[in-house]
Formats: sequence, C-alpha cells, structure tokens
Amino acid sequence: MSTFEKFKFKTLDDVKNKLASLHAHIGLSENLEIFHQRVKIGNKVAPNSLAVLPMEGCDSNPDGSPSELTKRRYHRFFTGGAGLAWFEANAVVVEGKANPRAMMITDENMESFKAFLKECNEMAEKENGYRPLSILQLTHSGRYSRPVEKPAPIIAQHDPLLDPRVGLTEDSPVVTDEYLDNLIGHYVHAALLAKEVGFDGIDIKACHRYLVSELLASHTREGKYGGSFENRVRFLLETIKAVREAVGEDFIIASRFNVFDAHPYPYGFGVDKDDSWKFDEEEPLELVRLMCKAGVDLLSNSAGNPYFSHPEVTRPFDSPTIGGETPDEHPLISIERLFGFTRKIQEAAGEVPVIGNGYSWLREFAPNAGAFNLEQGHIKMVGMGRSSFAYPNAPKDILNEGAMDPKKCCIACSKCTQIMRDKGRTGCVIKDSELYIPLYWEARENASH
Ligand SMILES: Cc1cc2nc3c(=O)[nH]c(=O)nc-3n(C[C@H](O)[C@H](O)[C@H](O)COP(=O)(O)O)c2cc1C
Ligand code: SF4
Repeated sequence: MSTFEKFKFKTLDDVKNKLASLHAHIGLSENLEIFHQRVKIGNKVAPNSLAVLPMEGCDSNPDGSPSELTKRRYHRFFTGGAGLAWFEANAVVVEGKANPRAMMITDENMESFKAFLKECNEMAEKENGYRPLSILQLTHSGRYSRPVEKPAPIIAQHDPLLDPRVGLTEDSPVVTDEYLDNLIGHYVHAALLAKEVGFDGIDIKACHRYLVSELLASHTREGKYGGSFENRVRFLLETIKAVREAVGEDFIIASRFNVFDAHPYPYGFGVDKDDSWKFDEEEPLELVRLMCKAGVDLLSNSAGNPYFSHPEVTRPFDSPTIGGETPDEHPLISIERLFGFTRKIQEAAGEVPVIGNGYSWLREFAPNAGAFNLEQGHIKMVGMGRSSFAYPNAPKDILNEGAMDPKKCCIACSKCTQIMRDKGRTGCVIKDSELYIPLYWEARENASH
C-alpha cells in the first residue's frame, strides 16, 4: 500500500512522530548555530555551511551568456547569505546544450560573465559582509542535448528504455571514443575560462543521466570508455586530472555525480544487477575514492533520472509534473534514501567535503535535518535546490534568525520543473509569482502547440 502523503507538519514533533511511524532514520537537531561553521574546500574557505545547489533557469542569451533574468536569479542567490553558490549546468560544447537558452561560457562572451560574477560578489559583500564561493557546473547533456528547438541526442550506449523517448533506433550512432577524447579538452578550456572570469572552481557534472553520468553506466559500450568499471569511470577521472593539470592547485574541482540511477542493469549505475531499485554501493564508493585521488576537492551526490521514471529519487515532491505519477513511497523515505547516500559518500571521501541534497521538501524543518547531518559528520554542507528559487534568503534567516519562515518555503509543487519540461524559462511559480506565473502559462501555451 502506498504511504505517500503531502507535507502537513506544523511542529518538529509532528515530523518526529511521522518519522517514527515510518521507521525512517532522519535525525533532527535544534542547534542551528552549526550553520555558521566555515568549510574548507581545497585551498579556499566557504563562510558558512549552506549552499545553493545548481538550478538551471533555461534563461541565458542564445550565446550562453547571462540574460537579465539569469542575473536576477543569481543576484537573489548571492544576497541570500549562502556560503557557496553552485552555478547551473553550463555546456562545454554547443551540441551539449540541454536547451537553446542553456548557459555556456566561451572566449567570446567571457567578459560578460566576468562583469556578472563581479556584480554578484559585490552585491553579496554589500548585503552580508561576505561573498559565497562560486562553482560553475560544466556539462555535456548527452542523450538530453537540445541545442536548437529539437532533440539532438548524443548517447554513450544504447538503452532500450530511454532510446525510443528521444526518437533513437537500434542503428542510431553511439558517440565515438575520438569524440570523447577530444571533449576532455573542452572541459579544460571551459575550466580555464571559468578561472579567468573569477569563479572559485568548476564542477564536472556526472549526474542525472547526462553524458558523463550515462558513461558511468555504459556496461554495454565497447572500447576504452565502456564495459569494465575501469573503462566506465575513465572519462570522468581523466577529465578531473586534465583540468587539475591545467588550473593548478588554487582552484576547486568538484563533481556532482549520480550514486544510484534507479535504472535497470546493464543500463544503470549503482544498482543491484537483479533489482534496479536496490542500491549497490561498491562501484559508487570506489569511484569516490578514485575521484579524491585524482584531485577532486568537493563532491555533491545526486541520484535518479529526472527525465524518466521516479523523479522522487532526485527531488522528493508533493505534486508531480503534469501526467507524472504520484510516488508509492512517503517523501520522507525518498529523503532518507538521499541522506543515506550522502552519508556513505562522505565516509568514503574522508576530508573532501560533500554537499547534501534533498532538503527542500522539508520546508522550515530542513535546517533541523541539515544541522543533525552536519553534527554527525554525514555532510560538510547543506545544499538547497528548489528552496533557493522560492526562498533565496533562507540561508540568511537560518543564520541570523535561527529559523526559516514557513510562509516563504518551497511547497514542492513541481511547477518549476514543469516549465523546464515545457521548454520555458524557469523559477518559482508560487513564491516569485509575479514574474513566473506569466512565464509558466507562456510555456504551457507553447507546449500545447
Ligand atoms: C528546475 C530545476 C533545475 C535544476 N537544474 C539543475 C542543474 O542545472 N544541475 C544539477 O546538478 N541539478 C539541477 N537540479 C537538481 C537540484 O540541484 C537538486 O538536486 C534537486 O532539486 C533536489 O534538491 P531540493 O530538494 O533542494 O530541490 C535542478 C532541479 C530543478 C527542479
Ligand atoms: S515552483 Fe516554487 S514552490 Fe513549486 S517546486 Fe518550484 S520552487 Fe518549489
């Protein structure tokens, strides 16, 4: 029987009682002072333990530079008080853009990124007396590439469940080893541009089943990037090493990676061979150890494929996107799963900090769960995704007021995701409604044609 329920808690005790009845292990602490803890990341220091997770707005200019809407989102993130701002997916090659308005730093537009980041930092300094560390997420969207208005998938391996969804057949080509060899240079180039622009670091994105995430799972691929574990992790590790070689020691290299695809073997990573719903930790934990050895300074784990089934594995919600299914499990169980992954990753990563995720559904009780995880050493920072769209000042309220305002919290309604699915420009439709209700309906309207 489904235990799914929408959020309905008034007090911390209500949450505790529900956790007890579900036998779910999510700890809650009232010591929110812990968020003032600074966090050493590589050779840099984040001023507190709260982070904005990467949240794609699909609102950049056609050349990949920030538009006025992009700037507005980041101004809100930067003045909101977080200790780290993880910038959204930024394509390293045009054909790897997830949408025509994806972010993309280039030789031609780097000056606009420089001015944008400077402005964000100055606004943060003025508002809070400090600025967050800034990390730029570098990506190739692989199977989900859509650089112009129609899908243009680039796949690491065939997948009978996913191929038909992007119009691929058995004889559609798989990306070549030569293309991947060459792609490493594009990551290095984008990292060097990011460094010159003033970012504190970059992230080699390997989550949510985009290209590098799919490579981790490419059991059926032939050649040096597929088949054995050593081959499947080769691209990610070689890219980390090549970027490190190019950027030197004083620049953060991060990776946001999927530990569990919830997708059947031999097409999924981190899954039991007989049960795609069961986590097999052996390979993800070995990957963490290898990434740390290769020179990674920061990790953030995620899971699932937000474009396919069970999006609650990535982001627990109250309401699905239009036509989506209501999960069988209680959102607290989905959150417990994400927290459990992070704890294991932090254990394997040792001193390399891991940023946790999956907090937004918990609304004003998110800081209690985060504080417990910090106290226990299960994570080094708490990351907020949708909450940052809805309530960008939450970090400031947690740090200064010791609480989040329940009226300002994200309600996990999936409308920001719906805008993305409808190929619009996204943000919070509920708590930033003046701007985003019209954009929601514009995207709905376009999707229906
Ligand atoms: C609209 C939207 C855009 C997102 N964009 C990105 C992205 O660019 N990169 C990424 O790694 N994750 C992205 N995510 C995932 C979030 O960073 C986060 O992992 C997820 O929402 C769960 O955290 P939360 O419960 O705090 O929202 C996105 C999620 C949403 C809803
Ligand atoms: S639209 Fe706003 S309230 Fe709804 S899930 Fe997105 S951020 Fe949360």
